Amino acid sequence: MNTGKVDVLLGLQWGDEGKGKVVDVLTPKYDVIARFQGGPNAGHTLEFEGQKYVLRSIPSGIFQGGKVNIIGNGVVLAPDLFMQEAKDLEKSGHDLKSRLYISKKAHLIMPTHRVLDAAIEASKGKNKVGTTGKGIGPTYTDKVSRTGLRVGDILDNFEAKYEAHKAKHLKQIASLGYTDFDITEVEKTWMEGIEYLKQFRMVDSEVEINKVLRSGKDILCEGAQGTMLDIDFGSYPFVTSSNTVCAGACTGLGVAPNKIGDVYGIFKAYCTRVGSGPFPTELFDKTGDQICTLGHEFGSVTGRKRRCGWVDLVALKYSIMVNGVTKLIMMKSDVLDTFETIKACVAYKMNGEEIDYFPYDITDEVEPIYVELPGWQTDMTKMQSEDEFPEEFNAYLSFLEEQLGVQIKIVSVGPDREQTIIRYTEE
Ligand code: GDP
Ligand code: IMO
Ligand code: MG
Repeated sequence: MNTGKVDVLLGLQWGDEGKGKVVDVLTPKYDVIARFQGGPNAGHTLEFEGQKYVLRSIPSGIFQGGKVNIIGNGVVLAPDLFMQEAKDLEKSGHDLKSRLYISKKAHLIMPTHRVLDAAIEASKGKNKVGTTGKGIGPTYTDKVSRTGLRVGDILDNFEAKYEAHKAKHLKQIASLGYTDFDITEVEKTWMEGIEYLKQFRMVDSEVEINKVLRSGKDILCEGAQGTMLDIDFGSYPFVTSSNTVCAGACTGLGVAPNKIGDVYGIFKAYCTRVGSGPFPTELFDKTGDQICTLGHEFGSVTGRKRRCGWVDLVALKYSIMVNGVTKLIMMKSDVLDTFETIKACVAYKMNGEEIDYFPYDITDEVEPIYVELPGWQTDMTKMQSEDEFPEEFNAYLSFLEEQLGVQIKIVSVGPDREQTIIRYTEE
């Protein structure tokens, strides 16, 4: 029964945990699905009925049951990329215009924001963040500097506002000595994107969301990126520029904290990271390559090879704490099907000392301390219920639950919507 609550689903690692797939699976339980932060740096993959879709700005609740989907005020939106994404969906028979609402307060990613992203990265030499190049950082910088352009701005005297912002950006780009760009073509498509946006219902997401809640309907908020990429709590400065944590759903949509119900924390049975920054359990050996190959660990936005390693329980505990996770979801279990043994990091050794928390000054030198468990060496991909789980797999689940203090309620055994197992464990 629906009661007018907001559940939040978010990544507990460094992104790409499989959020899109699970949001799609859970969509029938909700009335509205909403994105609250990030932008086209996200790539959320869904597979069903033999089709594969990658969503970047559009929430993953768009495919099931004609539900309303909302792009909240905390999102940054690139009109050209949004137009491409929406048109592709329409072409494949998924009409969006009547049920995708966009917050007027969401900020616009301009072509010059993307150039600035590249220019800032180039200026960092070997300390690059390894961004997705989508202009995320510069757009949020403008937002916080109170100099941004918002979706609502397109309704009035937009060209003049756009030109003023562009001129300011061009000066910033020049001051970085960056000359290797030409936005003429991109700008044309971008402006077409602005016209295209006007066909959608522009809302104040806070008003819309609270109206939905008052009528007793339930909302699912879809996080992008992951907790370890959060601007405040992630591995700064190798992070994204938004609050990816649960609190981001409050500020990114206009939901009061006391309306939040369940917080679904999603993680892979192992761990990956794209871009630079510390990754204590990263594997540089054959096992790392095997995980990468078996898990098809290549970025859905940039195609970059994802760095792979064992599951990191120190980082996961930290993520569970800052998000108030009530239910865990474990993804990509099948990727570990063939391993004889599986490792889980339970502590770090840093500067000769053993620690069980994620340190402020984490460096690449941190050494993981592992517990080794037997692998299940069973094909998990055809499993339909938890009754079929092999003993070693159950032991892995129990070990993680005991360490993390939260139950694993959903287990994913393949990329398809159907390859999802809900566990009916006692509360
Ligand atoms: P997101 O950004 O969190 O939505 O995750 P991505 O879509 O970037 O990356 C997850 C990848 O893993 C996608 O290619 C999914 O199709 C795939 N995937 C999701 N769940 C599973 C699973 O249980 N097993 C396997 N093998 N692949 C999965
Ligand atoms: P989803 O939603 C994985 C990473 C980038 C880079 C850092 C900053 O698919 O999980 P940005 O372009 O945001 O300024 O890049 O964050 N990053 C992601 N990594 N999944 C994502 O999204 C990511 N979005 C950004 O690789 O290290
Ligand atoms: Mg992704």
